[in-house]
Amino acid sequence: MSGALGETPGSVPAPTNRLWSGQAQMPSVLARQVEIVAADGNYVITRDGQRLFDTTAALWHTNIGHAREEMARTAAEQMARLETYHVFGRFVNDKAVELADRISALSPIDDPRIILGSGGGDGVDSALKLARRHWQLAGQPEKTWVLSRESGYHGLHGYGTAVAGIPFNREGYGSESLIPETARIDLHSVEKVEQTIQEIGPERIAAMIAEPIIGSGGVIPPVEGYLEGLQELARRYDILFIVDEVITGFGRTGEWFASHRWGLEPDMITFAKGVSSGYSPVGGVIVAPRVWDAFYKDADSPIYRHGITYSGHATSAALALTNLDILEREGLVSRAAELEKVLQRELTALEQHERVREIRSAGFLAGVALVDGVDGPALADRLIDRGFTSRVLPGNALQISPPFTTTDEEVRTLVAGIKDALDSSA
Ligand SMILES: Cc1ncc(COP(=O)(O)O)c(C=O)c1O
Repeated sequence: MSGALGETPGSVPAPTNRLWSGQAQMPSVLARQVEIVAADGNYVITRDGQRLFDTTAALWHTNIGHAREEMARTAAEQMARLETYHVFGRFVNDKAVELADRISALSPIDDPRIILGSGGGDGVDSALKLARRHWQLAGQPEKTWVLSRESGYHGLHGYGTAVAGIPFNREGYGSESLIPETARIDLHSVEKVEQTIQEIGPERIAAMIAEPIIGSGGVIPPVEGYLEGLQELARRYDILFIVDEVITGFGRTGEWFASHRWGLEPDMITFAKGVSSGYSPVGGVIVAPRVWDAFYKDADSPIYRHGITYSGHATSAALALTNLDILEREGLVSRAAELEKVLQRELTALEQHERVREIRSAGFLAGVALVDGVDGPALADRLIDRGFTSRVLPGNALQISPPFTTTDEEVRTLVAGIKDALDSSA
């Protein structure tokens, strides 16, 4: 029913709209929402006409920058030809097929099959269900447990919630794990991960899922040898190794995939965000032969009973393809590698700041961790006042992950803006 927005009790400000936002304490954000109404390259524009440099590339995804005409034309042309057609059963659409081929050519996994979906959490659900199906078909039905890294983030769908390494994302649903049989592994120590495997029993573990660089948990790069160590444990104990490249995939670390950077050969890779730079909701899973083989073999092969209406959405896929064209044509993946150096160089200016505890960075991605007692959200507000989007991650760390189209000068201006906001913090 439409009409006047209801009365709110006590001191809670009256809502000005009916949108229930993600990860928001609604009473405290209602009176100060930042409403974005337009964008231009590396900047977004608020309803009040303020122009903000997009420090975070929205939620780590606007890698080619905002509001590109070429993307708008792609969407319009595709919709006028075929908005979409589903990819269930015998049906496919040409753009979904083309995108699967294109992703497979870029992938660190040889001869993969590609499951398409609508985002990262969706990909994680697809991959972890598939891991459990794999072992059921392989005659090891007791392999059902899924391990995930402390501080990890894998979206907030059912499985992403169950394997969340950020405690507040997995708590409060009435059981230890929303989907049963999950456990957390140590963030840095391969020996401790091995202990956990032995405690649970490798014969009960289906998969290990890992973000190569912890993103939403505070931007935490892997210590040397950690990712390679996880892969080695997975091989030794016959556990599927899934790398969640939702943030790192499609260039963020200066390579197409972080798996390339660390020489990983996962059994599955989940992806989203950078595949379309957020111009359309696309995500999915890159699946290695070891996992897809049983489903493709012969007339008796089982069906993977999974899929969503918008898997391989044709307009979304067309936008992802144009995004990949732009990344290639403009050399934006190697530009991200250059920007990693520029960002690290500029951030050294903040290292000694009395309000900075630590700077963590790998790829064109950084977290500026603040000392205890510095009010991170207030600092983020001051950054917005100074013309920068901002976000505080767990551990009181500011997220820095701008578009790959950022100039060196914009990196300098951003770091100067953070310094200025830090200097004036209470
Ligand atoms: C590593 C990782 N995995 C999964 C997700 C979930 O993606 P989505 O929000 O598209 O469901 C995210 C989102 O930030 C992510 O960072």
